[in-house]
Amino acid sequence: MKEKVNVGLLGLGTVGSGVAEVLEANSAHIAERAGIPLVVKKALVRNLNRPRTVSACPPLTTDPSDILADPEIDVVVEVLGGKEPALSYILAAMRARKHVVTANKELLAKYGKELFTAAEENQVDLYFEASVGGGIPIIRPLKECLAGNRIDKVYGIVNGTTNYILTQMASGKSYEDALKQAQAEGYAEADPYADVSGLDAARKIAILASIAFGARVTEKDVVRIGIERLSPLDLEYARELGYKVKLLARAQEINGVLQVLVHPALLPSRHPLASVDGVLNAIVVRGDAVGEVMFHGFGAGRLPTASAVVGDLIEVARNIKEGVRGRNKCTCFHQKPFYPVSDMVTRYFLRLELADQPGVLAKVAAAFGKEEVSLAAVIQKRLTERGAEVVLVTHPAEERRFRNAVTALATYPETLAVHQPIAVEGDA
Ligand code: HSE
Repeated sequence: MKEKVNVGLLGLGTVGSGVAEVLEANSAHIAERAGIPLVVKKALVRNLNRPRTVSACPPLTTDPSDILADPEIDVVVEVLGGKEPALSYILAAMRARKHVVTANKELLAKYGKELFTAAEENQVDLYFEASVGGGIPIIRPLKECLAGNRIDKVYGIVNGTTNYILTQMASGKSYEDALKQAQAEGYAEADPYADVSGLDAARKIAILASIAFGARVTEKDVVRIGIERLSPLDLEYARELGYKVKLLARAQEINGVLQVLVHPALLPSRHPLASVDGVLNAIVVRGDAVGEVMFHGFGAGRLPTASAVVGDLIEVARNIKEGVRGRNKCTCFHQKPFYPVSDMVTRYFLRLELADQPGVLAKVAAAFGKEEVSLAAVIQKRLTERGAEVVLVTHPAEERRFRNAVTALATYPETLAVHQPIAVEGDA
């Protein structure tokens, strides 16, 4: 009869130390729920001498084989992040028949197939709740509680850093200043590319789409636009029209065809996601039986992310206790096609600067008319040093036709600037 489940931590940084702390602080309660105590036997670190604030510091090692080749370690928690050495360590752990819990969205979104194949071959569990939405339960709710639904849409705010930046920009800060503030607060990395370009959100929505639609969706399948080119003016004018600007991650299945996107979007101010501000995340799932459900909370951070990892560890411990191996199987049953971006239909918000001359607006309107894109609103906002600033909102239009119109009007000598178009969701 097994007396405890031994955990090996690959990484003792922000998340790893949070996991050690939660396992220690709540040990009796966790043992009761899992039916068996969980103990961190060893943690892999880069530097043994670095001062650590973790209250219950486990024994440390700098040698990965101390964990990967230790037959007493039942489950490995990978919280190193990035591709390598995380991928090799996970595969080595699986070959050694150790279960794996990971927070690594990059690996899941790129190598989900390889990881699940290895898990299946070695009859081990692979859990990854912390890879999307930090502390928000969303992976297992999708796989388990909502499994009886046909899910046709999953969408939400899955990147706290960009949501923080957009929240700052909504009160007038420039993108650059808002980013600096996010860095000063410790939300944005020194190299903010993965967050601001939408890559982090793309990885997360790829993982959610795979589970929701039972199909293989990888990071490469996600069409993405980041927030780098947005101006506080976009947010101000959107607000005047009754919208908030959010970086939306969106996955939809329409007649068996998938559409998976990350892009800035105008959301009606009364939409539940519009009031999700700062570093918070929220994800909405639409199922045929349940309707719409929203999951809301901290999408990152030491203890929220540790909460998700420890929840997975408890599940693994239960499986071990019951003698069940490889319970958490891959659910990407189907290969489904993806919608070409050019066919997608949406409404657009577009900010332009035009020469302040007679007939210019008519010329711009004609460019849209030629492509059969109907304009819902045309508002001249103000005179800039260069000319007239104009905001357009279209009726639903095919991306290809909208793009053709914008490409045409950008060539006019009277067009002084064409800013990034933003998709408009719902009615304000
Ligand atoms: N950088 C992410 C965010 C957290 O800002 O939400 C880790 O996925």
